[in-house]
Amino acid sequence: MTEKPKYYITTPIYYPSAKLHIGHTYCTSIADSMARFKRLDGYEVMFLTGSDEHGQKIEQKAEESGVTPIEYVDNIVALFKQLWKELNISNDDFIRTTEERHREVVQMLFQRAYDNGDIYLGKYEGWYCIPDETFWPENKLTPEHLCPDCGRPLQRISEEAYFFKMSKYADRWMKFIEENPDFIQPASRRNEMIQFVKGGLEDLCVSRTSFTWGIPVPFDPKHVVYVWFDALVNYITAAGIIDNPEKFKRFWPADVHLVGKEIVRFHSIIWPIMLMSLGIELPKKIYGHGWLIVDGEKMSKSKGNVVDPIPLLQEFGSDAIRYLLNDIQLGQDGNFSRERLINRINSDLSNDLGNLLHRSLSMVEKYRNGVLVHGDASVDPCIGEVSSEVEKNAEATLQRFRNGMDNWKINDALKAVWIFIRSLNKYIDVTMPWVLAKDEAKRAALDAVLYHLCEGMRFVSLMVEPVIPIAAEKIWAQLGLVDFEKANYKNLVWGGIADGTKVAKGMPIFPRIEVEKE
Ligand code: MSP
Repeated sequence: MTEKPKYYITTPIYYPSAKLHIGHTYCTSIADSMARFKRLDGYEVMFLTGSDEHGQKIEQKAEESGVTPIEYVDNIVALFKQLWKELNISNDDFIRTTEERHREVVQMLFQRAYDNGDIYLGKYEGWYCIPDETFWPENKLTPEHLCPDCGRPLQRISEEAYFFKMSKYADRWMKFIEENPDFIQPASRRNEMIQFVKGGLEDLCVSRTSFTWGIPVPFDPKHVVYVWFDALVNYITAAGIIDNPEKFKRFWPADVHLVGKEIVRFHSIIWPIMLMSLGIELPKKIYGHGWLIVDGEKMSKSKGNVVDPIPLLQEFGSDAIRYLLNDIQLGQDGNFSRERLINRINSDLSNDLGNLLHRSLSMVEKYRNGVLVHGDASVDPCIGEVSSEVEKNAEATLQRFRNGMDNWKINDALKAVWIFIRSLNKYIDVTMPWVLAKDEAKRAALDAVLYHLCEGMRFVSLMVEPVIPIAAEKIWAQLGLVDFEKANYKNLVWGGIADGTKVAKGMPIFPRIEVEKE
């Protein structure tokens, strides 16, 4: 038996400084769709998410709440896990940077970089953005001394610190980027990063001494490791660099780190240079996605438009939310609105997909007592022609869908599937099974039409699984099929439903949402 290829995909690890909003669920649901797609496409997948628990911001938040930092993060991390469960996220591991396995790796790597001469002691004089946990040199600031990224006020700091020799690696980084043009995606982000490095790479401050909530520097414990140096390492901790070398050999380098556009810089410049210094292979790709905006505006506490995903998930179910989040062009900003959500549930999920299933299975029950057989479309030349179109379309759609997913065009992949779904609805209108049912001579043609509808939906079920997994499994079960977890794209060839399969029509999979009259 040949070994499956592997696929290692990560989300950023989120700060447990507050509960997560719909923007955070965006990245995780995209990564989850990709992980599920790769599993169905024959890969052994490792899908990682987690929490980034150290740093000055968390220490301050805990203090404001009158609890210890670990008590503070424990509570919020429990909410993260609840959210991922409700969003039906299929992560294989959840890493917390306060775990022992992680501390060991960070200290080992910090020591290694120090021993090889890439970390030296100095003094940091400059500005710091606590919410972003970012150092800002004087020349990058706005005249009002606000954070160039988030626009919030900065803190002036002056403290003894260890520095990491980023500048030493600038040429090597540039050469790597030239030799690996697809490393940073999309290309617009790549160009930004090249400009950033061309502007001059300064050594990075990698320790802090004015607070204590972090991993102590092993050889100088009055310093804690800078939270980004600590956080980036999570990807190799979880891959098992210390505690599971076999696993590490199998899964590292990661195939992709999916991250938001504002943290591409940390992932595509700092992280690769850390790995170069440590002599560890670089990840294969950094994909920077756009931001989710709400009703056309950036979410912010001051505007009061921060959307909590939990009530939405409870009201509409995870599949509907996931569908909407995946239907955005990945590198660009995308809009979230309740109105758009309800429209898409009603048109795409309920009307196109749900009705197709319901109508088809109702006819199988009504005309054939629920039993499917292949039949013979050729007894009616017109039905024969449209039916062979359906067969061709199913296979072509699978191809288009796989291409779209492989190229991170999830929205295009979904579009291809929905074109196919709509064509199946049209197939019902054209073949008019209720007319065929009245003509005994057309018996085999009616069998074939019902078969084509159900077999088409078997294809649909597996193609939509990465994005709407609950509905996918329901479709599979209502078609009377078993072993959903064993299905995959390689085995998805036309004609797989066996003669004699009995469908099991259930409740509508996406009930229509009644829009309240204003
Ligand atoms: N802890 C760091 C990441 C360390 S990874 C080694 C961090 N955490 S965060 O909680 O602030 O943000 C995590 C991710 O959420 C980022 O990729 C960010 O882009 C994403 N998002 C935050 N708001 C978002 C939207 N409104 N829309 C989409 N993604 C957004 O940064």
